[in-house]
Amino acid sequence: MSMSEHTRAAAVLLVTAGMLTVWAGTKPHPALDGKACDACHGEMLKRAELHSPVKDKQCETCHEVPASGGKTALTDKPETLCFMCHEKEKLASGNVHGPAAVGGCVACHDPHGNGRKHLVVSEGAELCLSCHEDMKPQLAAAKFKHKALEAGCTPCHSPHSSPNRFFLKAGTEALCGGCHQGVLKAAAGPVKHSAVKEGQSCLNCHEPHVAETRPLLRADGVSTCLKCHDRVQQAGGTALADMKALLAANPDHHGPIREKDCSGCHEPHGGEHFRLLKDDYPKEFYAPFKAESFSLCFECHDAALPRDERTTTLTDFRDGDRNLHFVHVNKTPKGRTCRACHDTHASISPNHIRTSVPFGKWPLPINFTKNANGGTCAPGCHAPLSYDRKKTSPQENR
Ligand code: HEC
Ligand code: HEC
Ligand code: HEC
Ligand code: HEC
Ligand code: HEC
Ligand code: HEC
Ligand code: HEC
Ligand code: HEC
Ligand code: HEC
Ligand code: HEC
Ligand code: HEC
Ligand code: HEC
Repeated sequence: MSMSEHTRAAAVLLVTAGMLTVWAGTKPHPALDGKACDACHGEMLKRAELHSPVKDKQCETCHEVPASGGKTALTDKPETLCFMCHEKEKLASGNVHGPAAVGGCVACHDPHGNGRKHLVVSEGAELCLSCHEDMKPQLAAAKFKHKALEAGCTPCHSPHSSPNRFFLKAGTEALCGGCHQGVLKAAAGPVKHSAVKEGQSCLNCHEPHVAETRPLLRADGVSTCLKCHDRVQQAGGTALADMKALLAANPDHHGPIREKDCSGCHEPHGGEHFRLLKDDYPKEFYAPFKAESFSLCFECHDAALPRDERTTTLTDFRDGDRNLHFVHVNKTPKGRTCRACHDTHASISPNHIRTSVPFGKWPLPINFTKNANGGTCAPGCHAPLSYDRKKTSPQENR
């Protein structure tokens, strides 16, 4: 038995032992002198929200009090007393909460009623935290707390038992999805992410109670993803890059990844776009130019980048005033997509220029070098070409 199991077992015993001392009847009861219980215990019946048999003055279903006075006792053992009228099947079957398992019903319920709904001895999280004291400092210190906790613990946990682990009211996806319909809707979109359904479902990435990272993530917004993307994953017959290895091998990480945010570009739950992207981005190596088809990049970058044929301000990728983004990208039908030159996640070369591009089965080399006023590419696409931003009369580029 581990230390914490000892503590838990001790807690169950304490709950039970505490009840038994009261239930055994500690003081001798005075003689009844022919009076009904409520003649002397009438105050009890004035409480709001009385337990039904108490309201009906059925004291004797639960208590044995000798008419001549003396030792009082309960009519049954605490483990079974309540099941005289309440179905054990409903309250204590499957995965059963410690106190409910040992009939510690009165640890949470006043058997008579005390003015609170469901006869509970205290309300919301307070009831649970009165025993689960170890969670108090955790909740108090938490940077981010799940808003669901404002309604206590029972929106998710049954206080008694359930077929699910930790007496959860439903399986993870249904439980969380019950309040987060929007997420289920996204997950049902045309591009799916198996992480939402498989393994621990939502809990693959989220904490249920508190977290150090928004929104309730188990780790930062990159590590959360690399937990699974630390190997090649298969998506509909395509082998996806091992992202952890890719980031380790290419030290110059794209801005959002440096900021620990894969979801700057990806929908973690599922969505409309290729590769779970948040917005449009062409699937193919070549695409007829339309600014909207690069919406993803232009959420953060200037959409004018490939717009104007001549510029001295829009981009540094120019020869004199000839915009080389325009030259390569702004073409129909065979405009180059950004991936022809840039690595979206990380690179070794500056400006996230790729070392090579997968062109069919051939990794087409780019051989990019940079200098103060421009750079040179010696790619497999054309003869080595240089660009020079300071140039005043640019030569025609292909
Ligand atoms: C003549 C007055 C009188 C009558 C009638 C009476 N009681 Fe009591 N009862 C008392 C007193 C006085 C105490 C002790 C006060 C205390 O400790 O709260 C007591 C205590 C109790 C206790 C607590 C025993 C314990 O060990 O702490 C129970 C249970 C109880 N009564 C049940 C009943 C039931 C059930 C009836 C009806 C069958 C009943 N009483 C009728 C006066 C009465
Ligand atoms: C559903 C079962 C049940 C019924 C009905 C019931 N009791 Fe109790 N009663 C208990 C249990 C269980 C305890 C021990 C509570 C504990 O350990 O906290 C108790 C404790 C008591 C006590 C001592 C502690 C206290 O709460 O004051 C009194 C007095 C008492 N009952 C009186 C009554 C009277 C009078 C009635 C009828 C009006 C009645 N009970 C009806 C289950 C019942
Ligand atoms: C003599 C039968 C009987 C016994 C014994 C009994 N109950 Fe009840 N209980 C009822 C009835 C009747 C109701 C009202 C109908 C319902 O909600 O199921 C009720 C309702 C309740 C409720 C719900 C109150 C609400 O407002 O939702 C709780 C909680 C409860 N009982 C707890 C207990 C506990 C704890 C015990 C054992 C200490 C116990 N009962 C023993 C008959 C009993
Ligand atoms: C850990 C605290 C706790 C324990 C132990 C506990 N309950 Fe409850 N019970 C609650 C709470 C809280 C509710 C209010 C319903 C909810 O929020 O899900 C409740 C509701 C109920 C209800 C009414 C609603 C329902 O779910 O049917 C009954 C009846 C009931 N309990 C009986 C019992 C009995 C009998 C036991 C002992 C086997 C017991 N409870 C043990 C906390 C507890
Ligand atoms: C009377 C004390 C008590 C109260 C009140 C109580 N618990 Fe517990 N709870 C326990 C004990 C004791 C265990 C340990 C049982 C075990 O280890 O098997 C436990 C276990 C649990 C577990 C399983 C933990 C695990 O690691 O397996 C959950 C979940 C839980 N409680 C939730 C709640 C919730 C939610 C509430 C409020 C509705 C609550 N508890 C109120 C005593 C309590
Ligand atoms: C939004 C739903 C939700 C709410 C609200 C909630 N829980 Fe949980 N709880 C869970 C889920 C889901 C797990 C399982 C976590 C896992 O598998 O890692 C869990 C696990 C637990 C456990 C066992 C594992 C652990 O973390 O120690 C305890 C104890 C527990 N909850 C207690 C509570 C208490 C006490 C409250 C109220 C303060 C509460 N929970 C509120 C969903 C919830
Ligand atoms: C009883 C309803 C309820 C349940 C069940 C529930 N949540 Fe929530 N959750 C909320 C509310 C309310 C908010 C705050 C409003 C919002 O962002 O929708 C919230 C917010 C969140 C957030 C955003 C937090 C942030 O920092 O913006 C995440 C992530 C989350 N929940 C995950 C989960 C997971 C995972 C589960 C299942 C273990 C779950 N929720 C179950 C009600 C619930
Ligand atoms: C693969 C990891 C992962 C899984 C699995 C996952 N989430 Fe998320 N979730 C995230 C990330 C990352 C964010 C932040 C997204 C952002 O910032 O745009 C998020 C955001 C959220 C939010 C707040 C924003 C929003 O989209 O509403 C909620 C609520 C939420 N998730 C609930 C869930 C629920 C419920 C499930 C299970 C059905 C789930 N998540 C499964 C990673 C995940
Ligand atoms: C629990 C494991 C797991 C986690 C955590 C996870 N993924 Fe995935 N991911 C997968 C698997 C497995 C695939 C392969 C396709 C599938 O099964 O959905 C995948 C596929 C993908 C795809 C390609 C989808 C396609 O079909 O084109 C992207 C993009 C992706 N994940 C991004 C992320 C991001 C971003 C995160 C973090 C927010 C993340 N993943 C977290 C397991 C995971
Ligand atoms: C700046 C936007 C952006 C960010 C940030 C980003 N991605 Fe991507 N990701 C993309 C784009 C665009 C694609 C499609 C690339 C392609 O097909 O050329 C993609 C593709 C993927 C793929 C599929 C790779 C393959 O081999 O087809 C995975 C897996 C993936 N991303 C995971 C992640 C993870 C994990 C993170 C965080 C470390 C992340 N992404 C951050 C834009 C981004
Ligand atoms: C969520 C915001 C975001 C998205 C979406 C995004 N980027 Fe970026 N990008 C950044 C940030 C932040 C930087 C770093 C800027 C800095 O360091 O000054 C950056 C830097 C770059 C750089 C290097 C710029 C330089 O001066 O070296 C290139 C190239 C680039 N992004 C291309 C892309 C492409 C292509 C896409 C679409 C597939 C894209 N970005 C989508 C935020 C984003
Ligand atoms: C033919 C190769 C090529 C293509 C295709 C390309 N870029 Fe670039 N890009 C470059 C080069 C080279 C630089 C570095 C210019 C410099 O600093 O000398 C650059 C620089 C950038 C920068 C840094 C700011 C600037 O303009 O100087 C951003 C942002 C950027 N590219 C985004 C994109 C986006 C978004 C796409 C797709 C719409 C794209 N690029 C397509 C080669 C390309």
